[in-house]
Amino acid sequence: MRPLIDLHGRRIRYLRISITDRCNLRCRYCMPLSGIRWVPHERVLSYEEMLRILRICIKRGVEKVRITGGEPLLRKGIVDFISQVNTIDGLRDLTLTTNGILLEPMALQLKEAGLRRVNVSLDTLDAEKFAYITHVDAFHEVIRGICAAHEQGLSPVKINAVAIRGFNDGEISDFAQLTMTLPLQVRFIELMPIGCITKYPENENISATQIKESIEQRFGPLETLERGLGPAWIYRIPGARGSIGLIGALSERDFCGSCNRIRITATGNLRPCLFSEEHIDLLGPMRGGILDEELEALIEEGVRRKPSGHGVCRGMELFHEAGRARMSDIGG
Ligand code: 5AD
Ligand code: SF4
Repeated sequence: MRPLIDLHGRRIRYLRISITDRCNLRCRYCMPLSGIRWVPHERVLSYEEMLRILRICIKRGVEKVRITGGEPLLRKGIVDFISQVNTIDGLRDLTLTTNGILLEPMALQLKEAGLRRVNVSLDTLDAEKFAYITHVDAFHEVIRGICAAHEQGLSPVKINAVAIRGFNDGEISDFAQLTMTLPLQVRFIELMPIGCITKYPENENISATQIKESIEQRFGPLETLERGLGPAWIYRIPGARGSIGLIGALSERDFCGSCNRIRITATGNLRPCLFSEEHIDLLGPMRGGILDEELEALIEEGVRRKPSGHGVCRGMELFHEAGRARMSDIGG
């Protein structure tokens, strides 16, 4: 097997694929309340087209696939798609990131289709604050979704909380406390300048180190656990059933040095870096009838264009009007 290796020696093992740009929430840092103009269906990759890309990437050493959105559970046919992805030889881990609203009714089917685990985005443990940050009063649906995922064995369920000063900084210990009794992984993600946040979030940003310190202040020194294929550093409160993940996308000095990821957007662009406008269109050439070898060469070219790092720093404005990216396009 010839692995996909970029010009900086990083080997690509992890692919994130956004299957829809649509979402049923309007998280303030991600989407305007009015929503965005959704991409028409014909400009979104079909499941067959996605499978074609995935087969090639997995043949070239991708071991882990994460299905994202928008909200991936909104797309019809996702359960069948997951069973198809699950049959590709060489795939080791198949997971999904969801806002959890549709998870309760779908958890069993997703598990049966071969999904291993889920990450559920949840930025607060307070129903009113949830309605504020997402513009939708659906906190209890998400909690039921998390429970259902756990019961169906989509575990350990990981909860993704974007850390936002002035919003949920007072809840960091409460999130950490959950891991004492529940076998969950609670992950804190640094707020990034993407979506509705176009500037380095000077005032709202809480660094991974600050989060760790505030947890240690309450619970004592954390144990360091082994990292997975993702970007999180994993810790445990001694004696806890669950674990804590910290994702220092902005503050961690060598965050990009160990990046092993590429992304496929719902519109069929290969994006070698979340923070770069660099992309390679796969949809157009596929619909133009390119051969598998040619598609593979395009994917290699995308990997070659992976920047060494994002260089996002204080005072920086990242995405300008013309090509403003948001997580719902790129898939986080
Ligand atoms: N900064 C950090 N995380 C973000 N997400 C969406 N927008 C941002 C942002 N600007 C998160 C979502 C979800 C994951 C896919 O990305 O909350 O957990
Ligand atoms: Fe939807 Fe996720 Fe964006 Fe929230 S952050 S609006 S759940 S895509």
